[in-house]
Amino acid sequence: MVPTDGSKCSLKAEDIAISIAKNFKAKLVVVHVIDEKLIYPFEVLEEEGNTILDEAARKGKDEGVDVEQVLIVGSPAHDMEKIVEKTGADLVVIGTHGKTGIRKILMGSVAESTVKTVKVPVLLVK
Ligand SMILES: Nc1ncnc2c1ncn2[C@@H]1O[C@H](COP(=O)(O)OP(=O)(O)O)[C@@H](O)[C@H]1O
Ligand SMILES: [Mg+2]
Repeated sequence: MVPTDGSKCSLKAEDIAISIAKNFKAKLVVVHVIDEKLIYPFEVLEEEGNTILDEAARKGKDEGVDVEQVLIVGSPAHDMEKIVEKTGADLVVIGTHGKTGIRKILMGSVAESTVKTVKVPVLLVK
């Protein structure tokens, strides 16, 4: 599973997840969580999320990888555990930084919370 916000780091995470899935002939789940706290027209966030997921799925398909897209509304930091459980993913590939991208901290809050809460191995991509 690869959670993505379309940031540079998450695009790298997508590429690595695709190559792992290809090598293991595994299925890949790409996930985007629309932050329920964002005060922004839902249609815009939904379209942005679908664009990010479509692009990841297209890259996967180019490599012959079966990609499932998951778009949900919730808390990007707190929902990863439940999404991992629901999808049955056995590896999470995630960027250290995202759209906020404060480089001096080791990793962003979504990455940190994911490492802390999910029960499967996490591969951090920087
Ligand atoms: N809304 C989101 N939905 C899915 N994945 C996300 C989302 N936000 C961040 N991520 C994932 O978490 C990684 C780290 O981002 P984050 O912890 O939010 O750092 P930052 O504080 O720099 O934005 C991203 O590279 C991406 O893989
Ligand atoms: Mg972020």
